[in-house]
Amino acid sequence: MAPRELPPGRREDVDHVLKARRSVRAYTGRPLSRAQVLDVLRAAAAAPSNSNTQPWRVHVLTGTPMKTLGGLLVEAFRKAELPPSRHFPDPLPEALGRRQAEFAQRYYGALGIGREDAGARARQTQRNFDFFGAPVGLIFSIDARLGRHSWLDLGLFVQSVMIAAKARGIDTCPQVSFARFHPVIAPFLGMAPEEVTACGMAMGFGDAHAPVNRMDMPRQPVEAFTRLVGFDEAGRVEA
Ligand SMILES: Cc1cc2nc3c(=O)[nH]c(=O)nc-3n(C[C@H](O)[C@H](O)[C@H](O)COP(=O)(O)O)c2cc1C
Repeated sequence: MAPRELPPGRREDVDHVLKARRSVRAYTGRPLSRAQVLDVLRAAAAAPSNSNTQPWRVHVLTGTPMKTLGGLLVEAFRKAELPPSRHFPDPLPEALGRRQAEFAQRYYGALGIGREDAGARARQTQRNFDFFGAPVGLIFSIDARLGRHSWLDLGLFVQSVMIAAKARGIDTCPQVSFARFHPVIAPFLGMAPEEVTACGMAMGFGDAHAPVNRMDMPRQPVEAFTRLVGFDEAGRVEA
């Protein structure tokens, strides 16, 4: 059995990988082998899940099938026959709305796309479907009968995939954009009837020079989202 404690000096490595991971949206032409992808997924399979149910499924695409699916999705996106995404309530809670607006400003700003340029924004959204030019694309799915707590498990697995990848020098971008296109994706991948597309993920080696990969996405300070209960002023357990 693997040791439960990280040796001193290695503990910082985890923080380093957590901070170094970014959503990468431009890739070099360097390919990824099947062995590399499986190595990442094997490591990520250590993710915890409620009663060890491990509700995640993942479809790994590369080469012609990935291009063909991308083409079908672009076509569906352009035709706009499927209902628009409803990933968020409308309106978003105020603080989240502010952060979303800041994300958009930084993202489209890095690409030189103006606020009002809906066409250019749509073209950038469309780039999701060729996995931003990555050599490998993943589609994550889950049994549609499962509820939000199992989706939490899936999220933990998705993050584990990104961290395991980054620890191996491999970049990723999680992509909810695929979820809307489940009716196109499911038959293409031969999904089981109960399976539903949760999200996708680009995977490959990021182009370090691309401005879109050089954005900083700020995080709230820990005090902004944390309530400490039962600690005294000195940070010890209250007497
Ligand atoms: C569940 C999830 C879905 C996301 N979907 C998309 C997406 O469809 N397209 C995209 O470009 N980025 C997507 N992102 C990336 C976020 O925009 C990104 O994580 C956020 O802006 C923070 O930046 P960072 O990942 O570089 O730290 C998604 C992230 C998560 C966690």
